[in-house]
Amino acid sequence: MERPIVMRGTTSLYPARPADTSVPIHEPLALRWSPRRLDASATVSPRELRALLEAARWAPSSGNEQPWRFLVIPREHPRRSELEDTLAPGNAWAKRAAVLIATLAKGTRAKNNEPNRWAEHDTGIATACLIVQAAAIGLVAHPMGGFDAGALARSFGVPDEYTPMAVVAVGRYDPALHDPKLEEREAKPRTRKPLREIAFLGSFGDPVPD
Ligand SMILES: Cc1cc2nc3c(=O)[nH]c(=O)nc-3n(C[C@H](O)[C@H](O)[C@H](O)COP(=O)(O)O)c2cc1C
Repeated sequence: MERPIVMRGTTSLYPARPADTSVPIHEPLALRWSPRRLDASATVSPRELRALLEAARWAPSSGNEQPWRFLVIPREHPRRSELEDTLAPGNAWAKRAAVLIATLAKGTRAKNNEPNRWAEHDTGIATACLIVQAAAIGLVAHPMGGFDAGALARSFGVPDEYTPMAVVAVGRYDPALHDPKLEEREAKPRTRKPLREIAFLGSFGDPVPD
């Protein structure tokens, strides 16, 4: 049976599969997950897209270097198929996304051309901000590592100092889309390691108390 669709105002989000947390957390973080059943005809407005990019733009970064770059390819863009062709076969579902956003990390610092060891870390932070902003306004934003980074860089003229990190599928959930494999995946419970395995108090390996 379909789970209820979460509503925010009049905007449909996606089925409620909230994070199981020991204390309440910020709602968009709790409600965010990575759906694959996207609506192949739904659009994302220029304003919504801008909100995602603004959220990323205001992320923190080492030395305020802002090493992230975003290559935005909406469904109707003439070069859309070139980006879709870089996706791993298992990510064919993402071709239904209204917008595909490739994230790129600039590996050197602007001020001295020295390697920036936090470039990928900081690009991940910015991407997380983009994803949470999407959840807050009822959009799906599903990151993917399954794509051919070399092919993407070649196709889109990405300079050497930039590393393609992920492609984020942005769009709207389609509860009517019938795909048994994807539905089966969605029916599985969402899981995470327990806090005591990932958060330590005082020394490595000593779990934070409950
Ligand atoms: C860097 C990265 C790469 C990922 N690659 C893929 C991918 O190639 N295909 C896919 O369907 N999901 C991909 N995901 C989504 C993860 O599978 C998903 O976030 C994880 O299973 C947790 O599920 P949730 O996001 O629904 O909580 C990726 C996520 C991240 C952060």
